[in-house]
Formats: sequence, C-alpha cells, structure tokens
Amino acid sequence: MIESEILDALVSSFAPKARVALVIPESLTKGALKNFVTELSAHTETTLILTPDGEAQKSVAVLESAWNQLGVAGFTRNDRIVGIGGGATTDLAGFLASSWLRGIDWSAVPTSLAGMVDAAVGGKTGINTTAGKNLVGAFYSPTAVFISPRFLSSLPAADLAAGLAEVIKCGFIADPTILELVAAAGSRTLTDAVLLEELICRAVQVKADVVSQDFKESGLREILNYGHTLGHAIEKQERYSMRHGDAVSIGMVFAAELAHASGFITS
Ligand SMILES: NC(=O)c1ccc[n+]([C@@H]2O[C@H](COP(=O)([O-])OP(=O)(O)OC[C@H]3O[C@@H](n4cnc5c(N)ncnc54)[C@H](O)[C@@H]3O)[C@@H](O)[C@H]2O)c1
Repeated sequence: MIESEILDALVSSFAPKARVALVIPESLTKGALKNFVTELSAHTETTLILTPDGEAQKSVAVLESAWNQLGVAGFTRNDRIVGIGGGATTDLAGFLASSWLRGIDWSAVPTSLAGMVDAAVGGKTGINTTAGKNLVGAFYSPTAVFISPRFLSSLPAADLAAGLAEVIKCGFIADPTILELVAAAGSRTLTDAVLLEELICRAVQVKADVVSQDFKESGLREILNYGHTLGHAIEKQERYSMRHGDAVSIGMVFAAELAHASGFITS
C-alpha cells in the first residue's frame, strides 16, 4: 500500500467513535511522519503519546507515562492504540495495548524494514528492563498490520541494511528465492523499490507461516532465531549500541562457519 492508502485503511479499521492513542517517536512527528500524523489527527480523535527514539522508548518509565496519558484521556476498551515507527515503537505500543484494561485492540504501522518484516509481525511485544532486553512483554497480536514500503524512503541507510539481515535470515531458513534475488541484485537491493516490496512480502510470509504454527515458541518458532544466539550476546556485550540486524548478520555467519566446521554443510 502507499501512504494515503494506509491512512484510509487505518481510519476505516477503527470502530465508529473510537478514539486513537498514537504511539510514535517525537522525532518522527517532526520529520518523516509529520504529514501522516497531521492527516490521521484530522480524521480521528487522536491522543499523541510521544516517545524517545530507539531502545530508550522500551522502558518502564515510558510505559508508565503512556499508561498515565491513557488514564487522563479516559481510554476505554472501545478505543484503540496505534504504534507507528520502527520495531522499538511497535514493541512498546503492543505491550501498552496488552496491559491497558487487560488488553485493548491495537494496530501496527511499521516504518522501518526491521519493523515491517519482523517486529510488527508475530505478536511479540515488550520492553527492556534491568533484567534484560525484551524480558518483560506479552504475546499480543495487533488487529492489523499496515505496511507501506514508501515509508522506507526516509529511513537511514544503516537501518535499512540492518533490516535486510532479517530478510536474508528468512531466505536461509525457508525461502531460498530471497537469497537468489538478493545475490542477483547486489548493492541495488536496498534502492530497488520493486525488489524491496517483493522481499518484504516474502519475509512476512515466512514469518507468518512459522508463527501461525507455533505462536508461543514451543518448537518451530525457534527457527526464526537463526543467527540470534551469538547476535544477542554481541548486542549485550556492546550495551545495545549495535543495531540488532548487524549483530544478527554476524551471528548468521558464525552459525554457518560452525555448521561448516562440524561437517553439516559443505561450503
Ligand atoms: N517483536 C518482535 O518480534 C521483534 C522482532 C525483531 C525486532 N524487534 C525489536 O525491534 C527493535 C529494532 O527495530 P528497528 O530496527 O526498527 O529499531 P527502531 O525502532 O529503534 O528504529 C530505528 C530508527 O529508525 C527510525 N525510523 C523508523 N522509521 C523511520 C522512517 N520511516 N524514516 C526515518 N526514520 C525512521 C527510528 O525512529 C529509529 O531512530 C528492537 O527493539 C528489537 O528488539 C522486535
């Protein structure tokens, strides 16, 4: 979908008279998503819950502030939460929705590649605490996920490249066509809008297929963690200053080298 279609689809998904709490990084309301927020607010009664950028928003303090804002606005079960931004934002918005009034509807509008192909799909929501990353959360699927590759035009190249790691992971675990497409396109992969759209569709399909068979990760879903064992260790060691996708890329190379050294793969 293109942005204006996303807006129409989003607005028409709301129940009549429902109010919307829009969870969004403040930086995006001033930059890339300024027009989208203005348009949405013109169509729907909207409470803006502004967050810090990146991992800083996945905190108890930001969550508590969001709960307080929902309380002041008197949000009921007829109202809805919309998370718009990268994976950190949709993780926070989903957990907020799961915990307000024991669960109200929410929608995800991922605007980063990692958000589109991974974080917004599959129902895992959560925040970080001193105990660790993503240890507090809930399995709580959005009612709908609205994806527009057009949002990616403003995403920094480094975030786009990091998101591609999760796409390539889907190629290794389930859809080799992804690998063929990326290998053929090379550096054009991140600038070819048509190709990116196909890769997003394929990666979402892989994740949806896996998650629909094992929602709460009791077996098959662990396949999605390919490259993540070392990846998570690197992230922790680097105090989460490295992008998740970059760490997963290193983890995938490590897993492949290990498989090669153990004789499970030939090259
Ligand atoms: N729930 C899950 O299953 C799941 C899966 C994978 C990752 N995650 C989580 O997702 C997060 C990583 O996601 P991410 O890489 O999107 O990080 P992020 O949410 O921090 O976004 C990266 C940066 O891009 C900016 N941004 C987002 N969209 C933009 C746009 N269209 N234009 C310009 N800037 C934009 C953000 O404001 C941020 O600064 C981590 O917290 C990770 O734990 C969750």
